[in-house]
Amino acid sequence: TPKPVLFSGMQPSSDSLQLGNYIGALSQWTKMQEDYDAFFCVVNLHAITVGQDPAELAARTRRTAAQYIAAGIDPAKSTLFVQSQVSAHAELAWVLNTLTGFGEASRMTQFKDKSQRFGADTASVGLFTYPILMAADILLYQAASVPVGEDQRQHVELTRDLATRFNSRFGETFVVPEAQIPQGTAKIYDLQEPTAKMSKSAETEAGLIKVLDPANVTKKKIMRAVTDDEGEIRFDRAAKPGVSNLLTIYSVLSGRTIESIETEYAGRGYGDLKKGLVEVVEESLAPVRNRTEELLADPAELDRLLSGAAARANEVANRTLDTVYERMGL
Ligand code: ADP
Ligand code: NA
Repeated sequence: TPKPVLFSGMQPSSDSLQLGNYIGALSQWTKMQEDYDAFFCVVNLHAITVGQDPAELAARTRRTAAQYIAAGIDPAKSTLFVQSQVSAHAELAWVLNTLTGFGEASRMTQFKDKSQRFGADTASVGLFTYPILMAADILLYQAASVPVGEDQRQHVELTRDLATRFNSRFGETFVVPEAQIPQGTAKIYDLQEPTAKMSKSAETEAGLIKVLDPANVTKKKIMRAVTDDEGEIRFDRAAKPGVSNLLTIYSVLSGRTIESIETEYAGRGYGDLKKGLVEVVEESLAPVRNRTEELLADPAELDRLLSGAAARANEVANRTLDTVYERMGL
């Protein structure tokens, strides 16, 4: 029996992924690729909704793909491809635009948040219809499962509504997907502002652990992480967000329980915990960083892998798009 299909993607919106992407997405995907026919997409068409420098976008697209592979996505097991190399994404997005109500699209909270950065008048229509392109991404592959963060739940709901609507108007065509929001996946917070989620689009980088940063840069950031005046190493998310975040990262990356780390550091200072964490982080990220550099040193080989995957993605996506056009009388 064929494996169920999984689709997920990430924007090439930065030179390096951040630790939260690694823990919350890449490490999860790496485990899931065994049980699914998985499509992992570098969503560069999504990235242009907020403007881009062309040379930078091209480089970031390669770097993002390289980090996927370096973190364990196996191009022999999963289809790892670049969105703009499969034209069906843009075509199905147009079709789905015509099935989406203006009011329905207006209720997407991520647009409201993101457009505030530009002001409603200067935000692009592409940013407004971003969730509809995301629906196309998912539906083209007949994905049953879409691993995403909590902030993407509303977009997957819209995708489900559009799939159901199309199926009832034009006949059974799409699998109605489910968001798979990893339970028990720790949320990682900014080191300088430990109540805000660590994010590659953060305005300042001081609180961001970047996968591709050199070891000494990461060390400096961890040693300067915000803590508190209490001086006691214990987990308390509400009262001690900074220390709790350090304990969470330590625990997730070492595979140890928070309690065993608290016990090890009982009676010691925050500096000791931070030094220990520097080692744990380096041990996890160094192999990913080194492998990424190797892959980027041979761009022709990386491009060959990506175009092979795009060929397979095109085959699957065009099959779905052909059915859609036929059902719609196009
Ligand atoms: P970013 O905010 O860095 O741009 P995205 O919104 O593109 O991240 O999220 C990509 C994936 O990484 C999602 O699956 C999301 O759940 C995961 N992720 C992002 N930030 C974090 C975080 N701080 N902690 C845990 N997982 C995260
Ligand atoms: Na983002």
